[in-house]
Amino acid sequence: MPVRLWQWHAPRANRWERLCVDGGRLGVQWLDADDAATVVLAAGQARWIAPGLRWRIVQVDPDSRFHLEIHADESSPASAPQPVRAAWLDELPCWHVDDAAALAPVLAALGPGQRGLLRAGASVQPALATALAASAGRLSWHPLASDDDGLVAVLACSQQAIDLRQYLGRDHALIEAVLAGALGGDGEHAQWLRNLLARHLVIEEKMLFPAWLAAGGNPGWERGLRNEHARLREDLLRLDDPSVQRRFLLLLDGHDEKEEQIVYPDLLARIEASAADLRAAVLQLGVVA
Ligand SMILES: [Fe+2]
Ligand SMILES: [Fe+2]
Repeated sequence: MPVRLWQWHAPRANRWERLCVDGGRLGVQWLDADDAATVVLAAGQARWIAPGLRWRIVQVDPDSRFHLEIHADESSPASAPQPVRAAWLDELPCWHVDDAAALAPVLAALGPGQRGLLRAGASVQPALATALAASAGRLSWHPLASDDDGLVAVLACSQQAIDLRQYLGRDHALIEAVLAGALGGDGEHAQWLRNLLARHLVIEEKMLFPAWLAAGGNPGWERGLRNEHARLREDLLRLDDPSVQRRFLLLLDGHDEKEEQIVYPDLLARIEASAADLRAAVLQLGVVA
């Protein structure tokens, strides 16, 4: 193993690294905003390392095997599209609700750990918004479509208030699930994909990233993520081209992993006191046109 990997070092600007453990276990340490964090990765696990993030290997077992992928902007090596989290939507129960009165028993029966697909009349929206606000983060939704005829959304209930990392991670999983349907020719899923992705990117660009930067988040990382958003928006319009589709899948997968492993935890650590307010604002946001 190269000696430099035992010492503090960092990927240079615009270069992300992905440490992939192929066998055994590997202890890795990196420098957070104010402390060193350690994680032990098992075979099959991987961790993204952002440009400039100082890290080192601290533990290697005799059977440890790993490799380091280098992802430079615009020139990321394409291995193979990752399997999508496609089953997420298929297993959901579906509720048809005409008005606010019919919504109440659905919400009352929704226990911790449960989720489902709501198809509701447009008049239900204010009652749902009230229920979301009143639950203080235990009830959450992911709006899929909304027009004069009604609303379609995934509803989920958790035992404890969900944090933004969990919520946006679930948003990522849903985007991958509807993407699988859209690529399979499902027109409704294609519409849901456009709506989910538009809302998700607005949440990040207009709400999360400004709060993150104001709290000392890394402007270079943020710029890189915004660039990737622009490429995702562009490629979304041309998914019928196989090479564009492959690029989109690869980019989305890496982008989501980076955010879930690095960006969201860093954001939450920095904005601790105002995280609940930000979550409440995010949860009030409906479909973005
Ligand atoms: Fe993003
Ligand atoms: Fe994201």
